[in-house]
Amino acid sequence: MQLAILVLVSVLGGVASTPLQVPLGTELNPYPTKPKVTFKEDGTFKVTVFSDLHFGENPWDDWGPVQDQNSINLINRVLAEEKPDYAVINGDLVTGENTFKENATTLIDQIVAPFINASVPFSTSQGNHDNQANITHEEEILREQSLTELSYTRLAPPGIGGDHGPGNYWVPIYRSANDQSPVLILWFFDSRGGVKTSTDPVPDWVDASVAGWVESETKLMESAWGPASERGAVAFVHIPPHIAKPLQDNLDSTKNPGDNEDYLGDGSMQNPADTTFWDALTLNVKNLHAVVSGHDHGNNWCARNTDKNVVFCFNKHSGYGGYNRGWVHGVRNLFFTSPDPTVGVKTWIREEDGTVKASVTLDSNYVLVLQALPRAVPVL
Ligand SMILES: *[C@@H]1O[C@H](CO)[C@@H](O)[C@H](O)[C@H]1NC(C)=O
Ligand SMILES: *[C@@H]1O[C@H](CO)[C@@H](O)[C@H](O)[C@H]1NC(C)=O
Ligand SMILES: *[C@@H]1O[C@H](CO)[C@@H](O)[C@H](O)[C@H]1NC(C)=O
Repeated sequence: MQLAILVLVSVLGGVASTPLQVPLGTELNPYPTKPKVTFKEDGTFKVTVFSDLHFGENPWDDWGPVQDQNSINLINRVLAEEKPDYAVINGDLVTGENTFKENATTLIDQIVAPFINASVPFSTSQGNHDNQANITHEEEILREQSLTELSYTRLAPPGIGGDHGPGNYWVPIYRSANDQSPVLILWFFDSRGGVKTSTDPVPDWVDASVAGWVESETKLMESAWGPASERGAVAFVHIPPHIAKPLQDNLDSTKNPGDNEDYLGDGSMQNPADTTFWDALTLNVKNLHAVVSGHDHGNNWCARNTDKNVVFCFNKHSGYGGYNRGWVHGVRNLFFTSPDPTVGVKTWIREEDGTVKASVTLDSNYVLVLQALPRAVPVL
């Protein structure tokens, strides 16, 4: 037992020589001081996903602060009406280009306040606008962690995530608080992007180092909790994986409902260098219900990638900041009707006023969409 605790501490502390095995029955809970996030007693679990809030835009005129207040009103209303069991903010929390060195992270205070007010546990991924001259992903995460115990966001172990990409972690969701093994894992990945200084760009894909980490973490989970097939999973990453492009080329409006108003060109997706990560994710994580991204504010469809047999979904643009060509704002909901990891997940777009759109159930019947033929990889 003492050995197990010792091993666990060294794993979670990010010690370089991560063991792949712990004794079956090891708790492996990265949040020993926080309440376990659980399904409801009735066996359901609802995740509400906010995306692209873009706080802090144009602080020098009246327009910017008004947009932030509109976004705060939206978050308050959605949390009060949806009453999610967990909330996600899937990247581009701030418009980092418009932030000031001395107070950039105070925007995080404004963003998390409604979640504290509503007592909703949550975590975040970071986007390309969160890495800018006056702000970094790491600064945002450390600020968020310092503000509230409701935050489950973590930093990846040292050496994982690449340059400016520390936001890789997972959150276990349990059937009930007394359980030692979770029934669902929420994975969060850092697709990086943005700049370090005004002229020095950061690569815009999940770093290849994350692939080995996914493999070692899933092996560790199997040793502690049993086979991966006993757990469900959802992955959140701000910039869509590059496989979103051929999906867009083959959408069918009845099978893939939702807005499709952003053409996926260069910069709309991760660089194909995300393949190392994508292969490791889809190989090692079982019952992966969906991979969910923001970034392209005009899109909110879901479609299945037949190559890896995994569903990809866009979020809904939530923030009043960030580009918007007249689209209403809203969120994506993910609703688990059962803790059984093989039961499909219902998902839909909720617009700010409560209108429900693009409702689909992501199960094994969820439509297969033909992939386009392989295309030439653009040089970026
Ligand atoms: C807290 O939430 C309530 C209910 O949604 C809302 O009316 C109120 O404005 C919120 N308070 C703050 C400070 O956001
Ligand atoms: C960064 O912050 C400094 C200090 O507030 C400000 O003068 C500068 O314009 C900001 N730089 C950028 C690129 O926004
Ligand atoms: C940060 O400081 C700038 C410059 O003093 C100011 O215009 C801006 O409103 C401040 N932002 C926040 C979030 O406090």
